[in-house]
Amino acid sequence: MKPTETPLLQLRDIRRRFMLGETAIDALHGISLDIHAGEFLAVWGPSGSGKSTLMNLIGLIDAPTSGEIQFDGQHTRRLDDDALTEFRGRQIGFVFQSFNLVPVLSALENVMLPLQIRGISEHEARARAAAVLMDVGLAKFGLSYPDKLSGGQRQRVAIARALVVAPKLVIADEPTANLDSENSRIIVDLMREMNRARGVTFVFTTHDPRLLEHVDRKILLRDGHIESDEVMQ
Ligand SMILES: Nc1ncnc2c1ncn2[C@@H]1O[C@H](COP(=O)(O)OP(=O)(O)OP(=O)(O)O)[C@@H](O)[C@H]1O
Ligand SMILES: [Mg+2]
Repeated sequence: MKPTETPLLQLRDIRRRFMLGETAIDALHGISLDIHAGEFLAVWGPSGSGKSTLMNLIGLIDAPTSGEIQFDGQHTRRLDDDALTEFRGRQIGFVFQSFNLVPVLSALENVMLPLQIRGISEHEARARAAAVLMDVGLAKFGLSYPDKLSGGQRQRVAIARALVVAPKLVIADEPTANLDSENSRIIVDLMREMNRARGVTFVFTTHDPRLLEHVDRKILLRDGHIESDEVMQ
């Protein structure tokens, strides 16, 4: 990592307050953080510590109450909703706890979907989706529907779908929460492999400290603060 390189993400004094009627809930209190291109980073911490809130802000799904987020040097506050949607579609892939595959589409069609939404021809989308499915080890399962796949296989399809648009960043909020420990390990190893092979930055959250062994960096959140930010050697 060159010291002069602009971070992929720069968060400066990020606060996020939710209002529940008259009650204010401060989910994040002044988070400042740089994430560099190519990092493989886990955010961990107890339930309610603000992990999902932070993921939604980093993924530009939600906006901070105050503070500044720059993505690749771009001030995200200056983008209107349409520009933000377009920006997110090109730059960021998402993986969810509950996989979020479309049940009436095959594995291959699920992976093709983000390309087709962007107007890429069916022929090209099919070829690109098949190549990514192969990379995640599911070449033989392209025609299978989600209900015929195991949880671990579904999450691999979801990772392929996140990667197919060649984003700079993949955000995964608790990607292993619905998986057993063996599949959890397989999914983290796969994300690690994709991070190395493609240079894609990954940020994922987890409750499980056993999954932190292979990360470059782990950020512990507690009560909306960064309690520690450790870079592994
Ligand atoms: N939309 C919302 N409206 C009100 N409060 C919210 C909202 N989203 C999050 N919160 C509150 O913000 C705090 C942080 O929640 P968040 O979901 O970010 O935690 P988390 O670390 O992801 O927890 P978990 O491990 O259970 O997923 C919690 O107190 C939560 O109740
Ligand atoms: Mg959460």
